Amino acid sequence: MTGHFTPGDTVKASVERSLFEGIRREQERDAPPEGFPALPVIPGGRYTDPAFLELETRHLWKRSWLYALHTDELPKPGSFRLWKKTGSPIIIIRGKDQRVRAFYNTCRHRGAPLVEAEKGETKGFFCRYHGWTYDLDGRLVAVREKRDFPGMDTSCLGLAEVRCEQLGNWVFVNEDPDAEPLCDSLAPVPGHWEHLEFERHRHIASASYEIACNVKILLDAFLETYHLKSIHPQTVDRFLDSRGTHVVLWPRGHSLMVTPHRRAEWRDPGAAGMPEIDSAEEIFARQNPSYNLYPNLVTPPSSTGTPFITFWPRTPRSMTVDVHWFAPEGAEGHELWPTRMSNFERILEEDTQFAPRIQQSVETAGFKGMYLSYQERRIYHWHEELDRRIGADRVPSSLRIQPLMEPFLERT
Ligand code: FES
Ligand SMILES: [Fe+2]
Repeated sequence: MTGHFTPGDTVKASVERSLFEGIRREQERDAPPEGFPALPVIPGGRYTDPAFLELETRHLWKRSWLYALHTDELPKPGSFRLWKKTGSPIIIIRGKDQRVRAFYNTCRHRGAPLVEAEKGETKGFFCRYHGWTYDLDGRLVAVREKRDFPGMDTSCLGLAEVRCEQLGNWVFVNEDPDAEPLCDSLAPVPGHWEHLEFERHRHIASASYEIACNVKILLDAFLETYHLKSIHPQTVDRFLDSRGTHVVLWPRGHSLMVTPHRRAEWRDPGAAGMPEIDSAEEIFARQNPSYNLYPNLVTPPSSTGTPFITFWPRTPRSMTVDVHWFAPEGAEGHELWPTRMSNFERILEEDTQFAPRIQQSVETAGFKGMYLSYQERRIYHWHEELDRRIGADRVPSSLRIQPLMEPFLERT
């Protein structure tokens, strides 16, 4: 966005103002801004081709910072979750020192799993195969019949750690040991959320839905508002003006869209009356901003509580969407939460109803690729980043994305 700094202004205020200006420009324009290219078709094989999907798994899902859980889900030292979203079984555990760590669920002896339950509490890890024992920090502390391992140095045989870092109480995991630090990788988004007091939010609920489509088919629907009139005529379209959706593209694939309410005084009936965070900027209280933290976290933060929607591949043609809800401290037990969450579930069902049939259709010879409008440019941006992460030269030329978005990236 173009900053409009005046003396005494905070960066925050200028960013917020430029979002409102962006909405106004969108509502008034007759065509895309001059100089913005017509977007090339996204090759359909990127949704179906097994070799491409293999590249995506290896270079994207196994090498990205991915939201895993909120620290409330690990209430005590020894609380753990078995997390398998990237295909690798990973234990996420709170240590005695309260630090949250992640380890591959893989015994250093001959690879047996250490935990089998999806979640629980433990004092350490005991391998059921030959009895090697590890403490909560992953150190190997006991080996049965150690006399038969001459020269064994147990200090080198701890559980293999997986990168695990926090943004406030949100825990992210990355299987790439050389990944840049989480907070650097999410910039500038955390700066936008400074006044939302997320460190004082509690996790109140999570739900999972399985859908028979490639993960990108559903994720795409959460990157644009072009579909509101036809898919959500009785819900979202009644209160959001999709013609005013303002889009911000950032480096590393992150992006934002802010959609104005049709009427300034409209409030989400599921949230009206819920306590609001006073410090939150107007944009989070009175409009509908929705962020994509690349690759798979979509969130519309608001001053009354926030969902995280995460999208996960299961197989090339099936996926899971998870919804996690966070409430400002003190509002966890508010009576409106069940209504608010079921309203959201209804909207989600409107999005998911179609996805398996879209998948079937994109598998046919009749599908020549995704023909995107200016309004759908976040999808192009998403794919452009995917090629950057895979390494464009690894992508078969027929499936490659032409990099075009660089001149349109914002930094704040
Ligand atoms: S595989 Fe774990 S002790 Fe043998
Ligand atoms: Fe939708």
